[in-house]
Amino acid sequence: MSSLTVSQQQVDASATPAKVIQPAWVRALHWTNAVAMVLMIMSGWQIYNASPLFSFLRFPASITLGGWLGGALLWHFAAMWLLMVNGLIYLALGFATGRFRKKLLPITPAGVIADTRAALTGKLSHQDLSKYNYVQKLLYAGIIVVGILIVLSGLSIWKPVQLQYLTALFGGYDAARYVHFICMALIVAFMVVHVALALLVPKSLRAMIIGR
Ligand code: HEM
Repeated sequence: MSSLTVSQQQVDASATPAKVIQPAWVRALHWTNAVAMVLMIMSGWQIYNASPLFSFLRFPASITLGGWLGGALLWHFAAMWLLMVNGLIYLALGFATGRFRKKLLPITPAGVIADTRAALTGKLSHQDLSKYNYVQKLLYAGIIVVGILIVLSGLSIWKPVQLQYLTALFGGYDAARYVHFICMALIVAFMVVHVALALLVPKSLRAMIIGR
């Protein structure tokens, strides 16, 4: 069975009482985060255009937010609160409920290699959707770390004087800007794959995941 096709057994399973894989709080925080991230990315691109890090890269006006540098900074700092408050609640609940430990750990190199190989050869099992495979675990844990890094690097370029020790940890203001930009690129790459895979999941499986 290809990793993206569904067996009859899985489709039938959706007819039995649903096993909720994503609790309501995860879904609420996830979608709030998605909105905040899109606002941060689009306003970030406008900020970038005012002083590009790479001579070959400018973002088209149609995919930026804010209209000009000042407007983009206002959007960036407004959405920042949504992102940070939402992110802190997510981290607190993730640890307090044991969800991170249960869903994301352990991550072993052997497991990641085996599941990558299985995915590439179409042999990855999708029988138990309540368990992430090792590639998912690695990517989900990794993107949480990237999320923390983009917030910390953002804070260090926002307040480089007040938070000088944090800025120094990144290797100074200029290095923190590059870290901030690279984290954005990783988040965008993650989102492209994440959304593409979510769109490929058949409706019957989606109903199982959210318990409807
Ligand atoms: C607490 C969170 C954040 C803070 C405090 C923050 C702060 C900042 C600041 C101060 C700048 C301007 C840098 C400059 O003047 O050169 C900036 C730029 C930028 N931000 Fe954020 N940011 C945060 C989160 C994010 C997130 C989540 C994203 C995208 C996923 C993002 C994407 C960008 C981009 C693409 C730029 C332009 C890069 C550059 O030219 O330096 N930021 N951010």
